[in-house]
Amino acid sequence: MDSPALTQLFRQLFRHPACQSIRRPPSLLSRPQSRSFLTRRGPVKRKQQDDVQMWTKRGDYPKDIDEEYRKYPTVTAKELRNRRERPRQVKMLTREFIDDSLYNPHYGYFSKHATIFSPGEPFQFNSIEDGPAFHKLLGDRYTEFEDKLDATNPDIARQLWHTPTELFRPYYGETIARYLVSNYKLTLYPYHDLIIYEMGAGNGTMMLNILDFIRDTDHEVYQRTKFKIIEISPALADLQFKNLTDKLTAKGHRDRVEIVNRSIFDWDTYVHSPCFFLALEVFDNFGHDTIRYQNGTEAPQQGGVLIDAEGEFHEYFNNQLDPVAARFMRVRQAAARRPFPSPLGPPLLRGLRSAAPFQKEYTLPEYIPTRLMQFFDVLNQYFPAHRLISSDFSSLPDAVPGINAPVVQTRYQRTTVPVTTPFVHQGYFDIFFPTDFNVVEDMYRAITGKLTQVTSHEEFVHRWAYIEDTETRSGENPLLSWYKNASMLMTV
Ligand SMILES: C[S@@+](CC[C@H](N)C(=O)[O-])C[C@H]1O[C@@H](n2cnc3c(N)ncnc32)[C@H](O)[C@@H]1O
Repeated sequence: MDSPALTQLFRQLFRHPACQSIRRPPSLLSRPQSRSFLTRRGPVKRKQQDDVQMWTKRGDYPKDIDEEYRKYPTVTAKELRNRRERPRQVKMLTREFIDDSLYNPHYGYFSKHATIFSPGEPFQFNSIEDGPAFHKLLGDRYTEFEDKLDATNPDIARQLWHTPTELFRPYYGETIARYLVSNYKLTLYPYHDLIIYEMGAGNGTMMLNILDFIRDTDHEVYQRTKFKIIEISPALADLQFKNLTDKLTAKGHRDRVEIVNRSIFDWDTYVHSPCFFLALEVFDNFGHDTIRYQNGTEAPQQGGVLIDAEGEFHEYFNNQLDPVAARFMRVRQAAARRPFPSPLGPPLLRGLRSAAPFQKEYTLPEYIPTRLMQFFDVLNQYFPAHRLISSDFSSLPDAVPGINAPVVQTRYQRTTVPVTTPFVHQGYFDIFFPTDFNVVEDMYRAITGKLTQVTSHEEFVHRWAYIEDTETRSGENPLLSWYKNASMLMTV
């Protein structure tokens, strides 16, 4: 990492209080941060005009940004795609800032620092003593994996993820494959081929494990199977192709696989055939918008960030919701079958809350999954006969303040450093959200008109896995006991 960037990173880091946080659970691999930094938030300033813009200086000293707010253009992540430098003198909605920070091809977190851990040889769970012994072994493999990467490509800001696909390979892939083949045979076979799309395939391990399983257990279905990956990251798309062609056991799959290096949000091909659509741990990085409410009137405001000439971030709120956020609010209101959490609190208590003394003028923000709504639009428009199988975190510990708020963290020299806002140096921080499966299920149903089922990760693997494959000698089973905070949404 170049030193101005490092300086900038630490200026950003030290401006915000650190919180105890954890990367993708289970937590033990990342050392929790125990320092806490003192921070002062600048005063909130209000303009007089009708289309009031509220801004908050998230720094040590107040700075008036009224003039900049008027002058600077509002830009989107798409408009910044071809820029090599992080933007200055612009405004961005929260979802656009998050997308740019994570996915910009030049400085985005996905293109620079994100690496998905692979354990090398699969773990032999039946010969591991117990849960703690598995943890220890995983820690050792983690270090080995990173040492190897550092030997050829040192990166002090590397982010390492571990996903169930990798930790429990090939068993987790086989679990999903069992679900796919059973459902295919029940409803589509022999009239249709088995077509599987996977959005965000990481190292390509799920694809290989599914295809190996089908080839080894049902040759007839294998002959009719096609697997298509839609992957935003050029580096991961290359790695998926390499893993497909390098591995001896995978060579035969080559003709069944297509890897499309594109964001799902740029998809423009109509797929009329029935297909299964996998999305495993992809929703969590989708951009969200911020909405806060005026206590009393309950009027919503949409959040964004202004980046000044020095590259400093200033969060602002606007009374006008943009069309995407406004549509989310309408669809959620119309679709919700149950009450959903709001920063205003439960409807019955709102009157009492707003009458309370020392009430703040505005609530904390809620983070609304606007990109996820747009993903459902893509499914509805281009994959009308799809069946979704998705899994993600239903809750996350130590998120930044707000409802449905993300965890924002970086890793510096192998230590996790969490911060308290998503408005930090673009490209160095993972920003990942929990999914409110109740709300998201209702929105998916409303947009696609399909019926669904939500289960916990644990219920799903109980039903479809051969759980003895991942049992340790003591009887502890990490496939069941890890990822307790993950759920699955499926089309039925
Ligand atoms: C946390 S990884 C999960 C990888 C894999 N599904 C697993 O479980 O091991 C997220 C994956 O989604 C991809 N991704 C994120 N946003 C995407 C988008 N808009 N379109 C396509 N792929 C995306 C990332 O590049 C990455 O491969």
